[in-house]
Order: sequence, then structure tokens, then C-alpha cells
Amino acid sequence: MSSNAAAAADTALFNPIRVGNITLSHRVALAPLTRCRNTAEHVPTDLTLEHYVQRASTPGTLLITEATIVHPKAGGWAHAPGIYNEEQVQAWKKIVEAVHARGSHIFLQLWALGRSADPALLTSEGNYPYVAPSPIGLSEESEHMPGGPTPRPLTIPEIREYVTWFGDAALRAAHPSLAYLHFIEPRMDGSGDAFISESSAGSGNDFARKIWAPRPFVSAGGYDGKTARYVADRYGDIIAFGRHFIANPDLPRRIKDDMEYNRYDRSTFYSVLEPKGYTDYPFAAVEAVREGLVAAS
Ligand SMILES: Cc1cc2nc3c(=O)[nH]c(=O)nc-3n(C[C@H](O)[C@H](O)[C@H](O)COP(=O)(O)O)c2cc1C
Repeated sequence: MSSNAAAAADTALFNPIRVGNITLSHRVALAPLTRCRNTAEHVPTDLTLEHYVQRASTPGTLLITEATIVHPKAGGWAHAPGIYNEEQVQAWKKIVEAVHARGSHIFLQLWALGRSADPALLTSEGNYPYVAPSPIGLSEESEHMPGGPTPRPLTIPEIREYVTWFGDAALRAAHPSLAYLHFIEPRMDGSGDAFISESSAGSGNDFARKIWAPRPFVSAGGYDGKTARYVADRYGDIIAFGRHFIANPDLPRRIKDDMEYNRYDRSTFYSVLEPKGYTDYPFAAVEAVREGLVAAS
């Protein structure tokens, strides 16, 4: 290992942490990432399986799944996964078992779309209404559905139904307890690519950290290895990575050994059922890892 790599590994980021009833070997986690590689019927595929297995390759890693629909009426995103029927449960079980077989852990993120739903898809999937907590459509700046229609606000009985759906989905996922909180760090600008500065990294969520303490806190948004080490050392957080983990199936190892990252390709983030940009990002060469050298990619 080079001296740079030795220094990079000397951080709380690579200390174990207890989350609920599991112990993670380190604090680099996979952030929830919607990637549209599930079937039109919202069932995870072999491609989905391969993607999570690759990212479980460093033992003791926490993976948070892509947002997963709790009930067909709460859906409205093409090729997102669900957890409301037996076929979906079986597909998720296969993924969970494969991740566990690599010594890693996986939490399911539960999702009700609200105003982010595609009203046309809700109609075609079952004539479901386009509903949200409030009658507020997406803004003109929304990347997903700029200036979309105005949803109907949920009624009180409907809200009660949603509560039941979340409870049922959690039971099906067999993780009924909320073991973590996930906050997005405020960004320095709106470009989506800005990195938070080291001095301000993590501080925007101090209020939430206080409320949640001493339970484990997952922080995400614009991190690289350097800022992640800083925040883990300062706060003890788990740091979830989105875009860098998309492009680097072995990200924890690359951070620990201070190696370069593959660059992510934004154009393939949501390519429906495509392996390209999903399961074809290379792992660092074994020799490079052993030597603590820059990754071959
Ligand atoms: C392609 C893509 C899909 C995402 N899907 C979800 C999601 O399903 N649920 C969620 O809570 N956040 C989602 N996010 C936000 C990420 O979890 C993460 O918080 C964000 O990308 C910031 O982290 P990063 O700077 O390391 O990418 C998504 C982000 C991207 C880029």
C-alpha cells in the first residue's frame, strides 16, 4: 500500500458501525438510486441483481435500494421496482440473499410517488387517480416533469390507506424497524455537480443529527473520498454515495486505497433495462488494488 493509501485508510470512514441489529465494516454506503432496470410489471431483474451484487463486493457494505413502490396506486414510475406482490418479493429475496452471501447488507427504500407520478402511467396501470399530499404540481424547474399537472389532494381515508401500504410493504421486506435516517446535504449551487467544500461538509444537517443522536446518521450529496473522510471523522456518519457508486462498483475499496474513480455517464442513468451504464463499469485491476496504485479502467 502506498503512503497516500495508508493515510486515506486511516479514518473513521473505515471503522465498523452498528446499525439496528447489523454491524457494517465501514461507512461508505450505496445511496438509493432509481435506475429503471426492472420489468414493466415492476419486478427486479437479473440485471438488478447483478448491479447490487457488484456493489456488495466489499464485505460489510450497506446498500440502500432504489425507491420501491409500496402499492400500485402509489406508483407511476415506469420500470421502478415494487414490493406489493409475491413475484416482486421473491425477486428481492434473491437479491438480499446474494448481497448477504458477499457479507454485505441491504435496506429497501419504500416509495409512494405523489406528484412525481406519471398520470398517464397511473391511468394505464389501473385507472388510478393522480394524487399527492397537497394540490401542488411539479415546478417548471423540475427535471422529471416540468410544470406538470396539479394532483388531487389525498383524502383522510386515503392517507390512512397509505399508512397501511407502508406498513405492509415494510413487513413484506422483513425490515419493519426504521434503522436509519437519510438526509440530503444542501448543495453549494444548483448545477448538480458541485462538491460541498470540506469546511462546510456535513454541517447543514446538524439539527437533524442532534435529534437523531445517538442513532446512526446517513449523509449524502456531493461527497468524494476526501469530504467523506472529513465528515465521518467529525460526526461519525455513514456516507452514502450516489453517482460515484453508479460508476464504481468497488467504490469503498477505491476510497480506502485512494484510487481514481471511473467517471459516471449521466446519459445512461435511466436507460430502461440496459446493461450499459449499469453493470458494465469496470472494477479496479487486482494488481492496482494490491499495490495501492491508480485504478485501471
Ligand atoms: C440516477 C439517480 C437516481 C436517484 N434515485 C433516488 C431514489 O430512488 N431515492 C432517493 O432517495 N434518492 C435518489 N437519488 C438521490 C441519491 O440517493 C443521492 O442522494 C444523490 O445522488 C446525491 O448523492 P451523490 O452526490 O453522491 O450522487 C437519485 C440520484 C440519482 C443520480
